[in-house]
Amino acid sequence: MLRNKRIILGVTGSIAAYKSSYIVREFIKAGVEVKVIMTLAARDFVTPLTLATLSKHPVLYKFTEDAEAGDWNNHVDLGLWADAMVIAPASANTLAKMAQGICDNLLMATFLSARCPVFVAPAMDLDMYAHDSTTENLKQLTERGVHVIEPVEGELASGLEGKGRMAEPETILSQITAFFSIPGPLRGKRVLITAGPTHEPIDPVRFIANRSTGRMGLAIAEVARDMGAEVYLINGPVNIPIPEGLAGVEYIESADDMFKAVMAQSDLSDIIIMSAAVADYRPLNYSTSKVKKKEGEWSLSLERTNDILGHLGRHKKTGQMLVGFALETDNEMENAEEKLKRKNLDMIVMNSLQDEGAGFGHDTNKVTFIFKDGRIEESTLKSKLDVARDLCRHISNFIK
Ligand code: CTP
Repeated sequence: MLRNKRIILGVTGSIAAYKSSYIVREFIKAGVEVKVIMTLAARDFVTPLTLATLSKHPVLYKFTEDAEAGDWNNHVDLGLWADAMVIAPASANTLAKMAQGICDNLLMATFLSARCPVFVAPAMDLDMYAHDSTTENLKQLTERGVHVIEPVEGELASGLEGKGRMAEPETILSQITAFFSIPGPLRGKRVLITAGPTHEPIDPVRFIANRSTGRMGLAIAEVARDMGAEVYLINGPVNIPIPEGLAGVEYIESADDMFKAVMAQSDLSDIIIMSAAVADYRPLNYSTSKVKKKEGEWSLSLERTNDILGHLGRHKKTGQMLVGFALETDNEMENAEEKLKRKNLDMIVMNSLQDEGAGFGHDTNKVTFIFKDGRIEESTLKSKLDVARDLCRHISNFIK
C-alpha cells in the first residue's frame, strides 16, 4: 500500500530519535520515497549522515543551505510534495509548537504548509507525557485531524517506567499502512475532471482567455484520487503542478479541443466534474498570420463555443453524475439554480465573486452547493482543498 508514496519523516529532539533510522529503513523496504527533516535538537541524538544515507536524500534542517546562493529549502514545496508527514519521535516541545502554530524551524514551517495527512509518534518521559499541557496539545491536534500514534508503556531513558516510549518502528509503519489501505468511498469510480481556462486563438500570437488558474479543479483531482477514484484530468493551460497518480492527464488549449477531449472520455465516466472555465465565445475567424496593427479601432467578431456541460446533460448516461460550476456576480442563487436545471445537472457549485477570498487566483474559495433535489448547502470561506473535500463527500453520498 505504501509503494511509491512520498513521506516526510520529521525527527525531533528525543532519545527515541535513534529509532528514526529504523523507521527510514522500514519505509524504504516498503517502497516509500522518504525525505527527512530534523530539528536542531534531533541532531544531538542521531546524525544527519545516517539518515541521509538510509533515505538516499539529503537531510533537511535549515531554511536555507546557502543563503548567499539564494538556496532555500522550500517548506511549501515540501508540504505539497508529501503524501504523508510522519513526525517520529515527536517531542513535547514539538507537539506544543504544532498545537500553537509556532513556526521557528523548517519542520514546523513544513507542517503548517502540508496538505497531506500528518502522523505524530510522541516520545517523552512519563511525567512530561502525563502533563496537562501535553494532554491538551494532543487533544487539540487530534481535533484538527492529526493522527496520533500512541506511545507505549515501558522502561524509559530516565530509568523510570511508564507511558511515553515511542511506538516501535514496525507499529508506526503498520498504522500508516492501515491508513492508506482504507478503501476510499470513490473506489471503482471513474471521475472525469476538467480544470483551468481555455485559450481561444485570434492569430498565432494572440488569444482570448480568462483568469482561471485551475487550482480548484486540481484540488478536486487530488482529493478524488485520495478517495480511491480513477481520475482522468483534462486541463486547459495551467501553471501549477499536476497531482501525481492520476489515471490520465490531457492538456488542451481551446473550448473546441476540450469539447473533443471530454467527448472521448464521457461515456467511460461515472462522474463528470466540469470545473474548467470554458470560454463561451471564440473569434469567428482565425488568422493564420499575425494581424498587424493599423490606425483606428479593431473589432473582433465572436461566435459561441459548444456548451460542453449542456451537451453532457442532454446525453447523460443512466447512473452518471454531472457536476457543474457557476461563477456569478448578480442574482447568484437564481442563476445557478437555473443553470442546474437547464444543463440537467445533479449538483452545481456556485461561487460568488462578491465574496472576499473566493474565485480566481485565491487559495481559498467560498461556495454554495446546490443539489438537484433542491437541497442547498452554503459553506464558509475555506481552502480550495477543503472545498474539494466537501465536494467529493457530497459526490460519494450521492452515488451511494
Ligand atoms: N461550461 C461548459 N462549456 C462551455 C461553457 C461552460 O461546459 N462552453 C461549463 C463550465 O465548466 C461550468 C458551467 O458550464 O461548469 C458554467 O456554466 P455557464 O452557463 O457557462 O456559466 P458561465 O460561463 O459562468 O456564465 P453565464 O452566466 O454567461 O451563463
